[in-house]
Order: sequence, then structure tokens, then C-alpha cells
Amino acid sequence: MELDTRALALLPLVLASLATFLQPAAANDGTPRPGGGFSLRLVPYGGWNSTMHVDGGGFLHLNEQAATTALRPQIHGPRGFTYSVATTVGTGRGRRTYDLVLDTASSLTWMQCVPIAHPFAQIPPPFNPDISPSFSRVSRKSSLCHGPSPRQTCEFRATRLDGTHASGVLGNETFAFANDGGAAAAAEVRGVVFGCVHTATGFDSHGVLAGVLGLGRMRPSLIWTRLHQHGQDGRFSYCLFGPGRPSRHGFLRFGADIPATGHMRSTKILYMQYTTSPDFSAYFISVVGISVAEKALVRPPGQRQMRDLFRRHKSPDGRWNGGCLIDPWTGTTAIIQPVYHVLEHAVEEHVTRLGLPVVKRDGYRLCFGGATQAAFEHLPTVTLRFEEGAGLVIRPQQLFVFVQRDICLAVVRSEHMTIIGAMQQVDTRFVYDIAAAKIRFAPERCSDDTGGQN
Ligand SMILES: *[C@@H]1O[C@H](CO)[C@@H](O)[C@H](O)[C@H]1NC(C)=O
Ligand SMILES: *[C@@H]1O[C@H](CO)[C@@H](O)[C@H](O)[C@H]1NC(C)=O
Repeated sequence: MELDTRALALLPLVLASLATFLQPAAANDGTPRPGGGFSLRLVPYGGWNSTMHVDGGGFLHLNEQAATTALRPQIHGPRGFTYSVATTVGTGRGRRTYDLVLDTASSLTWMQCVPIAHPFAQIPPPFNPDISPSFSRVSRKSSLCHGPSPRQTCEFRATRLDGTHASGVLGNETFAFANDGGAAAAAEVRGVVFGCVHTATGFDSHGVLAGVLGLGRMRPSLIWTRLHQHGQDGRFSYCLFGPGRPSRHGFLRFGADIPATGHMRSTKILYMQYTTSPDFSAYFISVVGISVAEKALVRPPGQRQMRDLFRRHKSPDGRWNGGCLIDPWTGTTAIIQPVYHVLEHAVEEHVTRLGLPVVKRDGYRLCFGGATQAAFEHLPTVTLRFEEGAGLVIRPQQLFVFVQRDICLAVVRSEHMTIIGAMQQVDTRFVYDIAAAKIRFAPERCSDDTGGQN
């Protein structure tokens, strides 16, 4: 069955209208900056209770009945790997705390604001700028503003290829971040530019989420503002935990709050010059190879070198394509087509050798039947190898899901680019170091990152 991976929560095409005006972060001196840290509560959403459970070996089981209705048409792989961050917005009577989706691929934080044309469900009710004394609209004259706007206010549109579309006006507001994500705010940040969304379509709020916390590397993202406007430590970090763990939440940590983890590997963030691409706000990293069970895959016949297949390049139509980015808002990893097929073939060969026959299942490209406990112990890992030699090892528990008695490959095929999604990031700590232009990572039991709080 052909699956249209464009329907996945894939390409976070960000701020097409703002993008051309933004400058790339000049983040190359690598010097640590002063400034305290803080940690925000990171909460998973997506009906983990009803649609999935994790067995003793750490494998995810999708409840077929629930999964079928929960999966959007033509998506394979589990949904529900959406993480949100509690963010307090506004002052006075307008002050509210909202859960915003963690998104590192876009630089604009946005949320629903009254008046709303076709509201999506959220808790608490949408932000009302009229009753927050600290709210102001960003002027048309601001350098953040782009494109003709009939009124004096600065309008914006944000689009992702998964169909999420949001538009409204840019606002300027005081945000507060509570260390424990609770009501008592610790850190207030004034002058945060965010999207006050009056029209949104395609956004899955799970009935709760109010919008998106954009931690992309460009203005006006929170991390950009911290580093460039407040001269603070330009690092943030998270460690995503999967379902079936006792934790109810983890933390999105900033600056000095990031734990010192030994033996971290790192890879450089690619700062691309061609900033007219609408998706340059994302963190692109350089993948040069991929292995299955530690055996490097070779390029498909007649194709370019592996590293070139993963490289971001300009297509004849003038658009930028390919490349590899890392994004916790994308549920599962998508791999660029020619490489995906080689990967699929290698996984099939490895697993059938364990005695598990290939079986057909709707919504998945590769499933195996007759799984036995003995076979699980020999399922392969997949390693993405980065330019500087570091490799991200994805364990079988993050590669396969159980659908009834069968196991299916949860990594999917992409026509446009490679994206390291949330499920494959589980149980690895990632530190995004914007000043040093590095992403560092190391395996960790993420359910242990509870910060001593509940
Ligand atoms: C999910 O399970 C936890 C306990 O494991 C429970 O506290 C929580 O209320 C459940 N949530 C739903 C939506 O059923
Ligand atoms: C946001 O408001 C603050 C004052 O509270 C101001 O200093 C800052 O320039 C404003 N930012 C933008 C982009 O309008």
C-alpha cells in the first residue's frame, strides 16, 4: 500500500511570510553566557491510556481498535507522541496558563486568541488580549513584520505540511514560566513576540492544547530572545519519555538547569545561508550514513552516495529539499525515500532471518508475524551516523510497534526530507546549544528526569 507521507506531521514549514525577513542566528563564538536556568514541565498528550500500552520489554503495543480510529487516514506509526509545555501568558485579569506543543522546527510561539473564527477545543478558554494590560500589537513597521497588511497591525501566517495552518496578528506580551509548571510563576519574560491566532485549521489540540511553543533557532523564538536579547545561555534540553513509565511529566530545561551529562556525543547544527527557504528555522543536522544492526547500509544501485542522499539540496524547481532535521512535534521518524527502501530491505532481511515471516497490515509498510520472546531480543538497532562520527542509536523498542500479535516498523518513508521524530528520541537526552551551534545527545532513562517534583 502506498502511503502519502506528506500527510504526516512532517514538514514544519514555518512562517512563510515572516521568514524572508529574519536573520540567521549569529551563533558561532561558542562562549557560554551568563544567566540562570529554569525548567518547564513537559507533559505528553495523545490518549496513551486508551490507545497504547508498553510491555515489560519496553515495546509499544497499539490497541488495534483504538489505533484505527486514532490514526489519521494514511498515517502509519503511532500518534500520541506530542509533548506540551505549561506557559503563562499575560497579566492582570487576562493572565492564563496554557499547554503549548513543543516544536523545535518553528520559531514562532502561537496560541488561539479571541475573537476566533472556528475555534478548536482547548483548556482553559482562549487568551483574551483585551483584558491583559501588558498586551500590545506588534507594529506594521517592525522588522518582524512582512508583507502588505491592510491595517496597522502585523499579520502572519504559519503553515506546516501536515495541514496545520494558523493566522492572526503578532502580539507582544509578558510570558511567565513556572519552574514546576504550576500556578506560581518563577521567571517573567517581557516583550515576547507571539502569534495571536484568530484562524487555525488542522491543529490537533487533543481538546486541551492552546497552540505551539516554537523553539526554532530564529527570531522571535524564545531561545533566540534569551540568547540575543538577554545575553543568556542559549541552551535548552529535553529527554522525552514514552508511555508506560510511571512519570506523568518531564522537563524542558533552559541554561543552568540542564543536568551535566557525561559522554555526550554531538553534531553541528547546520546554519544555512539560503535563508529564503521557509523551513530554515528548523535544526538541520548532517547525516552521512545509516546502519542496521551496526552494519552500514550501502547506497541503492545507480544512486548518489549516502551522504548526498541525506544532504539538503536545491531542486531544479528552485526549492530546497532533503536534509535531516530534528523535531519533537513529528510523531515518528521519516526517512528520505531512496534510503528508506534500503533500510526497509535490511530490516526485512534481518528479521526474517530470526524466523519471523513478513505479514501484510493496512497502514504499515513492513510487519512481521509469529513474534516470539526469543526473537525480540535479536531485533536490530538502527544508527544514524552524523558528520563528526557521532551516531544516534535507535533501539528496537523505538523502531517497532506491536499491532495485535504482529510487529511493525514504526519508521516511515518521506518524499521530502529526513526528520528525527519523537518516538525515536525517547530515552535520549538532547541538548540544543544554539551559541555553540551543536546538538548534544546521550542515552538516558528519561522517566528519571522528574526534577524531584511530581
Ligand atoms: C491514565 O492513567 C492514569 C494512571 O495510570 C490515570 O491517573 C489517568 O487518570 C488516566 N487518564 C485517562 C484519560 O484515562
Ligand atoms: C515589545 O514591547 C516592549 C515593551 O514592553 C518593547 O520594548 C519591544 O520593543 C516590543 N517588541 C516588539 C517587537 O514590538
